[in-house]
Amino acid sequence: MTTPLTLADYAAAARERLDLAVWDFVEGGAGGERTLSANVAAFDRVRLRPRVLTGLGLPHTKTEVLGRVWAAPVGIAPMAYHTLAHPEGEVATARAGVPFVVSTFAGRTFEDIAAVAGGPLWLQVYCFRDRAGTRRLVERAERAGFEALVLTADAPRLGRRVRDLRNGFRLPPGVEPANLDGTGFSSPGGHALAEFDAALDWSAVAWLRSISSLPVLVKGVLTGSDAVRAIEAGACGVVVSNHGGRQLDGAPATLDVLPEVAAAVSGRGAVLLDGGVRRGGDVLVALALGADAVLLGRPVLHGLAAGGADGVAGVLAIVTEELTEAMLLTGVPTPRDAGPALVGAPAQVAVQAPEQAPVPVAGAPAPAVQAGGRVLRREDLHGSLNDPLLDTMTFLNEITHRYPDAISFAPGRPYDGFFETEHVFTHLRRYIRHLEDGGATPGQVRSALFQYGPTSGQIRELIAASLRAEENVDVPAEAIVVTVGAQEAMLLAVRALISGPEDVLLVSSPCYVGITGAARLLDVTTAVVEEGADGLRCADLEAAIRAERARGRRPRAFYVVPDHSNPSGATMPLRAREELLELAARHDILILEDSPYRLVSPGRQLPTLKSLDRERRVVQLGSFAKTLFPGARVGYAVADQPVAGGGLLADELSKIKSMVTVNTSPVSQAVVAGMLLAADGRTAELNAETAAYYGDAMRTTLRELGAWFPEEEREALGVSWNEPTGGFFLTVRVRFRVDNAALERSAEEFGVIWTPMSYFYPQGGGDRSLRLSVSYLPHDQIADGCERLARFVRAQTG
Ligand code: FNR
Repeated sequence: MTTPLTLADYAAAARERLDLAVWDFVEGGAGGERTLSANVAAFDRVRLRPRVLTGLGLPHTKTEVLGRVWAAPVGIAPMAYHTLAHPEGEVATARAGVPFVVSTFAGRTFEDIAAVAGGPLWLQVYCFRDRAGTRRLVERAERAGFEALVLTADAPRLGRRVRDLRNGFRLPPGVEPANLDGTGFSSPGGHALAEFDAALDWSAVAWLRSISSLPVLVKGVLTGSDAVRAIEAGACGVVVSNHGGRQLDGAPATLDVLPEVAAAVSGRGAVLLDGGVRRGGDVLVALALGADAVLLGRPVLHGLAAGGADGVAGVLAIVTEELTEAMLLTGVPTPRDAGPALVGAPAQVAVQAPEQAPVPVAGAPAPAVQAGGRVLRREDLHGSLNDPLLDTMTFLNEITHRYPDAISFAPGRPYDGFFETEHVFTHLRRYIRHLEDGGATPGQVRSALFQYGPTSGQIRELIAASLRAEENVDVPAEAIVVTVGAQEAMLLAVRALISGPEDVLLVSSPCYVGITGAARLLDVTTAVVEEGADGLRCADLEAAIRAERARGRRPRAFYVVPDHSNPSGATMPLRAREELLELAARHDILILEDSPYRLVSPGRQLPTLKSLDRERRVVQLGSFAKTLFPGARVGYAVADQPVAGGGLLADELSKIKSMVTVNTSPVSQAVVAGMLLAADGRTAELNAETAAYYGDAMRTTLRELGAWFPEEEREALGVSWNEPTGGFFLTVRVRFRVDNAALERSAEEFGVIWTPMSYFYPQGGGDRSLRLSVSYLPHDQIADGCERLARFVRAQTG
């Protein structure tokens, strides 16, 4: 063998030495091997941007991972049976002195490996159904001096490896797991497929932590939401990995999802990546996009097959040398200094979460990095800012601007055709008169309008009277806090009720993004309860409460929109409301009730949860945005729960408000108060015309959908929709994937815009349905919009 100069040279040497079936076993991926090639291709697409004359001198590659200094940000990925590549197996690999993740299926004992290892050893854990055996495996590694556990989460079973099937591959005699005696493992000579725990969930992280003092990382994470879950489950880091393309064929390339995962972890743990790293430059690209270090897979086995311990050391030396060179040429003095500015345009596309922006946005401004200016690192900002959740509406807004002529079923705004500018003054004057009639002096009136008002609000009495008159909710004014929209009420309530990391907020899925966004801003854990076709079922909520408790968490409150919910349009029947209150009492949770569409919906409405609440279980989050005046941004919280030591929950919310918005605009409150006075608190009366308008819009939309999707075609097209009796929204289910790409096509080719329902699923889902909002569109455009939608659905269904 001539001296290998690149990793490809080592691969060629290994190819010569290894038996073809073994070579195929090492090299192969699952199925069509698309993911395998995508891993390498993703690195090939990215270009590093050189920086010259930086005067920085020679860079160093040292980096800290889990408190240990690594000579370079490169370790060895866990791979089964190094003894396939070399008789000394993992012992030879460990001699190379590099951080090494040893597989559960190592061909040499942990003790032998530890005896020669020159770098930190971590154990990769496959969780067997036999937990006692898995525990013995972990304990054995810990005794041997291993420093961390890496739970492989993406392999409840093995991928379908076509090359191995073709070759009839079996492990050669003598190649077998060396550390599994006592684990209950019973298939030497092959992987114990049936013995993997296929029902593994996030509690496995806590379990590993309970049986071992070692830090736990989760390997196989490919989405931001799973990364968040890993950290919340107690992991100290994640490995972005698709198992080298050996599991799910069609999984994304690891580099493409790295920015999303790194953003989601946001400094709360280590982020490693494996898959497709073949050059030192690839390592730098991964660092630039958010990794703390990478793990090398197959190239290490190539080195091992080609030259034992020296071959492994040779492979790592090449990568480190290339990395140093790349750092020098791009002006990066240390691994910590690598940031997104290092990578060119293709990587900038990858910086966006894939579910948010799979379509390149024509004309969108490139993320500008001002030369010479102070550039803030994304990872130094709060994690929520990198969470796709907070960008939910960005793409929608952007597309609405780009296609101004499209008919848009997207905005959930109130119709403003009934508002009169002059009325603002009339309402204001009415409120001023009300103050004067109550004995206020001109000075007091002036203060009431111009000054900072009381934090809890100055129109609480009027709101309390309105709730009594209209909702049959009888609470004292002191139980109310006037807020800047219901959004602030959500933020205050969530902040007040969630006291620590074990507390969780339950939400339905799909769910209004305002509440999940508020929770994310506050680093509050949410757990979802899936809505069924006919809305939320209490049994599902109860199951979620129990599951959270089993995880050691404390469910504190459940957020619900009981009437004509946003986004699904579902309404809870009366019986379900009563059951919900009973359930809340039984499990000692609070309910955050948000019902903005109730009083602008036609016909008789069901009683609110708050009006049925005899035990003060319900915190009501109110809004005048839909009923009276969207731009005034006046909402309120009804929080009449007594707090031990004196006062009500409302007082606590007010304390928080004093540090958030201080008080709600007195002028806004004054106008809203004038409107309440005009109707004696009965906003539904003021809204009779508007509610009828929305009712018509909903009926027209349902009728037009029926006309453009004739019944006899619906099944073949896979189209159906729900039929809400009020509110602004309905859901259309279709057969194709409803994502941003579909929305883009719908806007561009068919001139109709809507909202993908997946935006409202906190943990994924809803990708076969879309939300139509009927509130804002002039009625004469609804028929046209439905016709366009029908053409789009037909084209998309093929
Ligand atoms: C693996 N991989 C793997 N992963 C794991 O968690 N436990 C294991 O036992 C194995 N075994 C294994 C055997 C072989 C032959 C290969 C090629 C891979 C996956 C491995 O840790 C890593 O995710 C990928 O190999 C990384 O991709 P590259 O560097 O090989 O492209």
